[in-house]
Amino acid sequence: MIKSIFFTLITLVFFYIIWINNIFAPHERYEMPAQYAKIAEDVKSYAKEGKQLFEQNCQACHSVRYDGVYISSVQANPKLQTLQEKYGKVLPRDVYESVFYEDLMGLKESFGKVPPDLSTIYLVKGKEYLYAFTLEPQKVLPGTSMPPVMTGRPEETAKIVAYLKSVAEPSPEEKSKRVLMGVGTIAYLIVMGVLLWIYKGRLLKRMGLH
Ligand code: HEC
Repeated sequence: MIKSIFFTLITLVFFYIIWINNIFAPHERYEMPAQYAKIAEDVKSYAKEGKQLFEQNCQACHSVRYDGVYISSVQANPKLQTLQEKYGKVLPRDVYESVFYEDLMGLKESFGKVPPDLSTIYLVKGKEYLYAFTLEPQKVLPGTSMPPVMTGRPEETAKIVAYLKSVAEPSPEEKSKRVLMGVGTIAYLIVMGVLLWIYKGRLLKRMGLH
């Protein structure tokens, strides 16, 4: 009995940590006024506009490979179309980086490093960081070589964050599929646990130990 309570508690604590209060998630806090947080969350209304803003303000240096968006100099290169006919819109990373090596190294020469691809940055850094960094790179990451391109444009910055969110997050169907799989797995474990427990009782009884 004590054992059962112990294991139930451990399991509850485990799921609490993973789902409700994830201690492994990023914990730094960055200022983001509520009205802009709302825009960044609202992928449905703003991701499309955010993509255009990204093209105008960020694409000179950053790609979003998962969305088939490559840095401007690559986008203008006729080789890109040939490769996309062969591999599809999203080129494999090694193909992209080897064929367009010169473009990436050009950026490295100017900025000290290749500006990162932003396909999954939303998942890693979260909206507050992206908003704060894009708006004022020097304030968030002193000494960074990323130029301040969005100074004084908080609303447009939030829309770009909405676009990055739309790329990084799975689609609603994919999300509900994952939830269903998670719930299914746990339900299976519970049912199997109960069955085993019943079976154990019967076995003990048959052995005359109960
Ligand atoms: C002129 C080139 C250039 C432009 C334009 C540019 N960036 Fe950057 N960006 C960089 C460079 C270089 C870095 C790497 C900086 C570093 O690690 O210090 C960077 C890094 C980043 C990072 C990663 C920060 C981190 O913590 O690692 C994000 C996010 C980012 N940029 C977003 C954007 C967004 C959004 C835009 C458009 C509004 C944009 N950038 C426009 C050059 C650029």
